[in-house]
Amino acid sequence: AKDVYLDWNVTWVNAAPDGFERPAIGINDVYPCPEVNVELGDRVIVDVYNGLGNQSTGIHWHGFTQYHTGVMDGTSSVTQCPIPPGSHMRYTFDANQTGTYWYHSHNMGQYPDGFRGAFIVHDPKPPFQYDEEFTMTLTEWYHRQMPDLLHEYQSAANQAAGGHEPIPDSALINDSNDTKFKVLPNKTYLVHIVCVGNWPGHTWVFDGHDMTVVEVDGVYIEPFTVGEKMLRIAPGQRTSVLIHTKPDASQNFAIWDTIDINMMFIYENRTIPENYNPNVTAWLVYDEAKPLPPPPVLHEFNFVDDLDFTPLDREAALSPVDQQIVLHTFSSAIDGIPRFVVNNNTYIPQDVPSLYTAQTVGNDLSSNPAVYGQVNPFVIKYGEVVEIVINNYHNNLHPWHLHGHQFQVLQRTGVDGGYFNGTIGDLGHPPVRRDTIMVENHGHAVIRFKADNPGVWLLHCHIEWHVEAGLIATIIEAPEKIPQIEAAPQDHLAACAAYPDPSNGN
Ligand code: C2O
Repeated sequence: AKDVYLDWNVTWVNAAPDGFERPAIGINDVYPCPEVNVELGDRVIVDVYNGLGNQSTGIHWHGFTQYHTGVMDGTSSVTQCPIPPGSHMRYTFDANQTGTYWYHSHNMGQYPDGFRGAFIVHDPKPPFQYDEEFTMTLTEWYHRQMPDLLHEYQSAANQAAGGHEPIPDSALINDSNDTKFKVLPNKTYLVHIVCVGNWPGHTWVFDGHDMTVVEVDGVYIEPFTVGEKMLRIAPGQRTSVLIHTKPDASQNFAIWDTIDINMMFIYENRTIPENYNPNVTAWLVYDEAKPLPPPPVLHEFNFVDDLDFTPLDREAALSPVDQQIVLHTFSSAIDGIPRFVVNNNTYIPQDVPSLYTAQTVGNDLSSNPAVYGQVNPFVIKYGEVVEIVINNYHNNLHPWHLHGHQFQVLQRTGVDGGYFNGTIGDLGHPPVRRDTIMVENHGHAVIRFKADNPGVWLLHCHIEWHVEAGLIATIIEAPEKIPQIEAAPQDHLAACAAYPDPSNGN
């Protein structure tokens, strides 16, 4: 184990990932933001300087449970104050989980403007063999900047028009529409796939190469061969697959990816614009001198169900359940603008981060979640097995992400599968664990985890439009133990005292 030190100045950079130039967020004046690669057990130290000038920021390390380091979770107004322009914060945490993760700003719809990257924790003893590896990030992309789009989305005029999300302009693989992965013949590649997008899910195909899934969201699974079906992931999710390259370099192959048209155009009063292109192509390049073929033409969308995956460690379903939390989630016009609600309440970020509130009040007020403000707080006790039911009354898919844990997925219905009625079916194998789960339209999911990580953790739809529209709950875990976890860095607390800073624009 070693220290991995990163010195990051977050700045605006001109970028043209799909050919259209616009300002995007980069690190140390480079867009796209770098991929981070560390070894299991490394200590990660990141000095972040907010050089954006016009927006506050913060970095969340998506999928890292931050076991007993909850102050490093990077969620503004939850585990820290936003870092104002011209300020600095140091994140320190241990990379004590293997696999595929990512980092992104958790402020003001900021990551879709570019502030995001893959984060891989390499395992010195992986439970499968491979020769080489590469990472593939998938996202949709917008020509306009998020503050502008959000302003329009969260408006009475938009509500009057149906209240729907802005339509992306293109799709990107590794922040480009022209990515070439140089490969060698007859090798096994471990491909880390990260959906860093903020609305539609993605489906992709390596033409001519079958995929075997070995990891989801940092959890090893029993190898699962995809065959004729397809994989899909939604914002926040990751999947690692093994592919074996062809025995010779006589031909190159296309990688085809598409953003989920159904999610974007499911609404009655929205039609697909003429010539709309939801696809992006990349290539497995065996020989640079040979032509780059077009992607395959695909007709059938038949998806692998991630509930069919079995964790490699075969951890049994947690039982019995000590506390059950039921979330009824829906869209709702509030004060004439499009919002989302959890049990009828929309999330409103607080000036005092919820974790600091928990550190102050500890156990005293754990019976009175109202002290946390309008954050949809749920207080759970140390050591409990917690079951969370997410009922989705909306007519669209929502990928739900929990900070602080990898949860077991006991049940998840298909589209129109109905709401939880108290019965859990038999999966026939131990439940998959992950940190982000797709919950289908008019359906539900049931997840469980053990409350062994004191802290304040968001549970939210990872669609960034919906984060800004309030589709968030806050899990206050073992508040009596929160004062014992590491305190926030002093320099950050000083910046915090100055918040809210009018220059934040928030
Ligand atoms: Cu990717 Cu709340 O996080």
